[in-house]
Amino acid sequence: MDNNALGDERMISDKLKYVYRPGHTKEEVRDSYSTWADIYENELNPDRYKGPVLAAIECCGVIPESRRANALVLDVAAGTGLLGIEMQQKGFKNIHALDPSTKMLEKARAKKVYQKFFREFISEEQLSTVDEDTYDIVVSSGGMGQGHIPAGALWEMLRITRKEGFVIFSMREEYLRHPEYDGVLEALMNKMEETGKWRKIKKNVVPNYYAEKDGAVYVFKKE
Ligand SMILES: C[S@@+](CC[C@H](N)C(=O)[O-])C[C@H]1O[C@@H](n2cnc3c(N)ncnc32)[C@H](O)[C@@H]1O
Repeated sequence: MDNNALGDERMISDKLKYVYRPGHTKEEVRDSYSTWADIYENELNPDRYKGPVLAAIECCGVIPESRRANALVLDVAAGTGLLGIEMQQKGFKNIHALDPSTKMLEKARAKKVYQKFFREFISEEQLSTVDEDTYDIVVSSGGMGQGHIPAGALWEMLRITRKEGFVIFSMREEYLRHPEYDGVLEALMNKMEETGKWRKIKKNVVPNYYAEKDGAVYVFKKE
């Protein structure tokens, strides 16, 4: 890698460390993305960041091609819409986007792959704008992390998924050990399974999810 490329890598890595830094409020996280939106895709392009591609592949794994056009999907933490593009290319046509950042959602809107937008945080609280049992798939790429989607929001993702629908997400594997999730996120996933709320279909650890870092990809089915 030449010096310029090395400098770019360091700058992006610093930016990511900043947005996922412990102690940020959710509003600070949202505002960081708004200042990043214009160049986000130059920096988190598919050569470096595989989250959207991996999440879309899992969506295809649970919905056969013949049913994709009619499946209703919510992309949580949709950002600039990288996952929406992947989903549309794979035959999904009813995709909604949720993200708290106006600027990120503007970029997503310009892609013309989403039918509806929610400018909101997902959290432990119920979204007043989304009924329960609505979506065939609730999916997120890169939305899980310190200061981003809180662990307790898994309940809300499940609530708005229809019975026998799927909750799918891709994230950096090392984020499981960040303070907010360590001993919490996977413990909650297991508790939700033990109480019969959902069933884990898979957890894959994948290499080179973000540059040389591993990713974790989860697929759950609502019971
Ligand atoms: C790393 S970006 C991922 C964007 C896109 N899904 C992708 O893969 O490129 C993280 C996104 O999460 C959004 N975000 C942060 N906290 C959130 C929350 N509580 N609920 C929903 N989205 C959130 C940010 O605004 C940002 O757009």
